[in-house]
Amino acid sequence: MDDALSQTSDPEEVEARLAMPLSEAMLTQRSVRRVDPGPVEDRTVLRCIELALQAPTASNAQNWEFIVVKDQAVKAALAAQYRRIWAIYATLGRWRSRAARDDREQRVMRSVAWQVKHFEQIPVLVVCCLRRGPWPPLLPKPPLLASSHYGSIYPSAQNLLLAARSVGLGGALVTLPLWSTTLARRALRLPLNVEPCCIVTLGWPKGRYGPKPRRPVGSVAHLDQYGNRPWDGPA
Ligand SMILES: Cc1cc2nc3c(=O)[nH]c(=O)nc-3n(C[C@H](O)[C@H](O)[C@H](O)COP(=O)(O)O)c2cc1C
Repeated sequence: MDDALSQTSDPEEVEARLAMPLSEAMLTQRSVRRVDPGPVEDRTVLRCIELALQAPTASNAQNWEFIVVKDQAVKAALAAQYRRIWAIYATLGRWRSRAARDDREQRVMRSVAWQVKHFEQIPVLVVCCLRRGPWPPLLPKPPLLASSHYGSIYPSAQNLLLAARSVGLGGALVTLPLWSTTLARRALRLPLNVEPCCIVTLGWPKGRYGPKPRRPVGSVAHLDQYGNRPWDGPA
């Protein structure tokens, strides 16, 4: 099911592509980091964000904010953070030894390295943020609150990725450029009660969508209690 769709700015064509069967979008959506620097229409980006908003949020708070970054200076500020953390991350022993063993890991490493190097040339970065309630802005949340807090952004980010995939845009979810929330806040002029959580990068792909390796369902599905895996093994 490898698929490289051509670029389009035609809203009718965008709508037609969004009718892709859900299972096909899910099966072929993967991190597409290598993208063309050419522009993506604002209305296409907004349509994808509009679909992202169909996701659930805790207490239906809809406390999300999406910063659509196209400005070079803002991208450069986020790219600088990505480069800083990647320089450390890429040299971590675990990554290096895994990558040395595994072809796929090596490909992922190369594709992340490409993205880090060309981050400013990615046409659109959608920074997915959450507005915080009365909890003191800089205090970490206790686990239960943290779970429902951050759980309010990732379903929308996944919807955004699926919408992008259907349209034929290359998308990838990244968090490393936001490792310093202080610097990210400064670059994006976010108030203290708005927290940057992740970025969905968007552009017309240089590569292709297609299947990706995943663990078999029986190895992760437990019946009633942890460890009881009757579906594990050959189908
Ligand atoms: C919470 C989260 C953070 C991630 N952060 C990054 C990142 O900073 N940079 C990056 O290149 N990929 C990042 N990824 C993408 C994963 O590396 C990727 O989804 C994974 O390797 C599986 O590959 P696939 O998306 O192609 O199936 C992140 C994914 C998640 C869910």
